[in-house]
Amino acid sequence: MSTPSSPHHGPIVIVGQGAIALLAASQCALAGYPCYLQGRAAASQTAMPLDFRRGQQNFPLLLSLRPAHVSKVAVLLVCVKAYDAVAACRQWLPLLADDGCLVLCHNGMGTADAVTAMLGKSQQLWLASTTHGALKTGPHRLVHTGLGATMLGPANLAAKQAFATPAATLIDAMQAALAPVTLTPNIAELLWQKLLVNLVINPLTALHQCRNGELLAAEFQPRVAALINEAVQVATVQGIAIEQAQASALVRQVMQRTAENYSSMQQDVAMHRRTELAAITGFLLKCAKVQQLAVPTHQQLYDELTARLEPWQYQ
Ligand SMILES: NC(=O)c1ccc[n+]([C@@H]2O[C@H](COP(=O)([O-])OP(=O)(O)OC[C@H]3O[C@@H](n4cnc5c(N)ncnc54)[C@H](OP(=O)(O)O)[C@@H]3O)[C@@H](O)[C@H]2O)c1
Repeated sequence: MSTPSSPHHGPIVIVGQGAIALLAASQCALAGYPCYLQGRAAASQTAMPLDFRRGQQNFPLLLSLRPAHVSKVAVLLVCVKAYDAVAACRQWLPLLADDGCLVLCHNGMGTADAVTAMLGKSQQLWLASTTHGALKTGPHRLVHTGLGATMLGPANLAAKQAFATPAATLIDAMQAALAPVTLTPNIAELLWQKLLVNLVINPLTALHQCRNGELLAAEFQPRVAALINEAVQVATVQGIAIEQAQASALVRQVMQRTAENYSSMQQDVAMHRRTELAAITGFLLKCAKVQQLAVPTHQQLYDELTARLEPWQYQ
């Protein structure tokens, strides 16, 4: 159980009760780091049981839920889908101390500006990008499907000013939750690299309902190349240094490494759930519009995919 008392640090509050939030809370519990989960509403219980599985090992955990008196915390980690991120931050920001750190951890882009606008001058915004994989296989069951790593970087002025000497509470909490954590001064570049991969793999696998590795087939290569080319142009105008060849190699590498996997968007479409398309292709289309750049291949892919979805699945 994550004991909500630490001699050195106050607790971290983790917003969300999905796969990544439960993974972060489980790892905190196993590390003995004080941690509370925050679901959509105030908790009526004090803890939730969770069977946490990693490899061949099972850990029966009892995760602490945030009691009403725990507030003004130093670290608030928000692990919700991109489409819920701004609303979740608005809802739970009152829990953050005036000089606290808000960490956003989701796929896709386009939420940081809105969240920055909500923060006080001394409140820091950090963005996290994790390659850990987790799957909720039941209301009280979580499988750590892939051991990964996390990059963490500053996103607003207060965080950028703190970058050289970040708060020990932030580093310790994030190491407990999503280790190993590496700090980067340029998280935007990293998020763009990840976006580039997601821009190709997610909508294509969702449209064709195939595994990531199937996109390596010759028939997809002209479309894959055009998607990468257009995305690199948009990224370049955004001030992100990425070469076409580097982006192509990265996308290919991910397709090969995750050849047997189904992407999150493929699964969302297959299960008739809401997708993160707005924060992935939708974000690129918005950037391109502002820059007055043509991205016809992304637009066509977006149109083809959304034609098969209901509006609530992609807005
Ligand atoms: N799962 C992975 O392996 C993985 C790996 C890397 C990155 N990611 C990314 O990480 C992000 C989170 O993914 P996930 O798999 O954890 O998603 P998830 O399983 O859908 O969990 C999201 C959770 O956020 C909750 N939520 C939404 N709004 C909230 C609010 N205002 N207050 C409190 N909780 C709220 C949801 O509650 P409800 O259930 O009530 O809607 C749900 O429990 C996504 O962007 C995903 O793409 C996931």
